[in-house]
Amino acid sequence: MSGPAVARTRAELAGLLAEHRAAGAPVVLVPTMGALHDGHASLMRSARESLGPVGSPAAGALVVSIFVNPLQFGAGEDLDRYPRTLEADLEICAAAGVDVVFAPSVEEVYPGGPPQVVVEPGPLGDVLEGRTRPGHYRGVLTVVAKLFGLVRPDVGVFGQKDYQQLVLIRRMSTDLCLGVEVVGGETRRDDDGLAMSSRNIYLDADERTRALVLSRALHAAQAAAADGAEAALAAAREELAAVDGVDLDYLALTLPDLTALPEGPVAPGTQARILIAAKVGTTRLIDNLPVVLGRSA
Ligand code: PAF
Repeated sequence: MSGPAVARTRAELAGLLAEHRAAGAPVVLVPTMGALHDGHASLMRSARESLGPVGSPAAGALVVSIFVNPLQFGAGEDLDRYPRTLEADLEICAAAGVDVVFAPSVEEVYPGGPPQVVVEPGPLGDVLEGRTRPGHYRGVLTVVAKLFGLVRPDVGVFGQKDYQQLVLIRRMSTDLCLGVEVVGGETRRDDDGLAMSSRNIYLDADERTRALVLSRALHAAQAAAADGAEAALAAAREELAAVDGVDLDYLALTLPDLTALPEGPVAPGTQARILIAAKVGTTRLIDNLPVVLGRSA
C-alpha cells in the first residue's frame, strides 16, 4: 500500500496538486488536527468513494490537512498535550486512499505570528461551545478559511460531532462566498456508544465509563422526543442525574441551524438537534444527535 504524498509547505502543496488542477479534477479537503481515529477515516473513505480511484490525476484529489491550530485553543486548554501522532495518522490516510497530506508547521500557516485579520463567527460563535470557549470559533474559522485558501477545495468534509463547528463553517462558506461545498459526515461511535474523539485517550477507565452517560442521555432524548421538547430534555436529564462525576456544561435542544425552538408546542415532525457538553475528570467532551419532535398523526 503506497502512502499519501506529504506536503510540509504551501509550495509543496501547490506542486502536488498541480496535476489534478491541470486535469480539472475536483479536490476534496478533510481538515483535521491529527490523532486520527475511525471517525476521521470514515470521512476520508466516503470522500474517496465520491472521487474515484486513488492515484489518477483525472480522478479527484483527496487532501487531508493535519494541523494543531494554536489559534483555537484558549489559555489553560490542552494545546501542549494535544496528541501528535503523525506516523500513525499517515497509515490511516494511506488505508483510506488519501492522495496528499498537508502537515504544515505553525510558522508555515501563520508566518509573522497570529494573523491580524481573522474570521468572526458572529452571534452563533458566542453560544454553546463558544460561551465556554471564547474565541474558539474565531480560531477555527480563521484556520479553515486559510486552509480553503491554500488547498482551494471544491468540497470540505467535517464531522458532525462538533456540530456547531459544522454549522459555522457552512455559514462562513455561504456568507463569504468561498465556493466550497461543506459536507457533514456522521459521528462514529465505539460499540459502547461513546462518540469517537481524539480527546478520548485522556480518559481513564473509570472516566470512560462515566462518559458513556453523554450518549445515553442523547439517545434517551431522541426516544422521548415524540412527546415533545420538554419530554426529550427531561429524559436526557434523568440519565445524567444517575451518574456522578460528570460536570455538565450544557444540554440544549435547538433547531438544526442552532437557533432557538419556537415557544410552545411545535408541529409534529419538527427536526431539531440535541447537544451536550460536559467535563469528565479534566476532559471536556461534546456530542449531539438529530431528534424529531412530536408524534405524527
Ligand atoms: O475539528 C477539527 O479537528 C478542527 O477544529 C479543524 C476543523 C481541523 C480546524 O482546526
